[in-house]
Amino acid sequence: MVIVQLIKITPIMVFCLIVSNSYVSASTETGFNKEPVYPIPDIKINNPAEVKLGRKLFHDVRLSANNTFSCASCHLLANMGVDSLPVAIGINGLKGVRNTPTVYNSSLSFRQFWDGRVKTLEEQARGPINNPVEMASNWQEVLTKLGKDPWYQQQFRIIYPAGLTAANITKAIAVFERTLLTPDSPFDQYLKGDNSAINAETREGYYLFKSYGCASCHQGVLLGGNMYEKLGVVKKYYTSERNDSDYGRFEQSGINEHKHEFKVPGLRNVALTAPYLHNGSVPTLEDAIIIMGKYQLGRHIPEQDVKKIILFLKSLTGKIKP
Ligand code: HEC
Ligand code: HEC
Repeated sequence: MVIVQLIKITPIMVFCLIVSNSYVSASTETGFNKEPVYPIPDIKINNPAEVKLGRKLFHDVRLSANNTFSCASCHLLANMGVDSLPVAIGINGLKGVRNTPTVYNSSLSFRQFWDGRVKTLEEQARGPINNPVEMASNWQEVLTKLGKDPWYQQQFRIIYPAGLTAANITKAIAVFERTLLTPDSPFDQYLKGDNSAINAETREGYYLFKSYGCASCHQGVLLGGNMYEKLGVVKKYYTSERNDSDYGRFEQSGINEHKHEFKVPGLRNVALTAPYLHNGSVPTLEDAIIIMGKYQLGRHIPEQDVKKIILFLKSLTGKIKP
């Protein structure tokens, strides 16, 4: 009985064992198929005119109430799709409650937003336009403003049978967003067989990432973005001093177990998207890794291991295609 309690095996532990045992050099004939992480696919552009339209809409301030905010005001494309603020600041200086996630690779995520409240990028794009602290506009206003622009009139007519409509605005934005991928990171080159793409310490960082059990939550093409988890799986994170009134997934579902659950964030390009966590409360990668070790895995991660894991996370920075 005592023994059973001592070695209570959790699904995460089982997964960690599987993951850590599968450590093989990615360049062996097994390739990356056995790895818990796989490379970002190449960008495919099927309809360049639609992508161009979406890009223009993404940068268009007329989507906001007083023509001051575009999607790109918070998702700065040259800044890896983020604003680098703890929480977003929208129209009229109004503060949101959550950190701005990157739009790069978000099409590969199973759901959108920190709490996963919508599934598709089309549905997602409706959110900010109507959100009072983001763009604070409404469709009637947006359609009137864009309808006065002959270029939009023409492009929407050419591309879509129904022309300029709310649904086609969000469609074009989503089509553009699906081109925002960051392939060819050094780590992906390594996964594809180029052993020299990352150095030995970085490879050790990847090994540590797997052996500590990070990959039980951060896995797949994004190293995240495919499940929900709470912060504080092993040890309670939120206390009376460190409170958080944002209950994440619970706010949508009302189910008690969902309290403090968020979509596990993807770690692609994470070295460039500080500050971290849904509320932007953690300024550095080092802090984020130590917190993850302590509260998600019940492990103290020594400094030299943290350093190597950071090297690994840095190798996930991909290329932005202009
Ligand atoms: C005021 C800043 C702001 C503006 C403007 C803004 N966003 Fe966001 N965006 C955010 C924040 C903050 C979140 C996270 C909100 C949440 O999870 O509840 C987010 C989430 C997203 C996500 C989900 C990413 C993920 O990984 O879950 C996408 C995609 C996105 N925005 C695209 C857009 C598009 C398209 C527009 C323009 C129509 C836009 N955003 C306008 C701040 C902004
Ligand atoms: C039990 C699941 C789980 C495990 C294990 C886990 N994480 Fe996380 N990780 C999360 C969740 C959930 C978040 C977001 C929490 C939040 O925003 O409140 C997160 C956030 C992060 C972030 C911040 C990303 C961002 O964009 O804000 C980093 C970096 C990170 N984890 C790295 C790691 C590393 C390194 C390990 C291993 C030492 C690890 N994680 C283990 C679930 C996990």
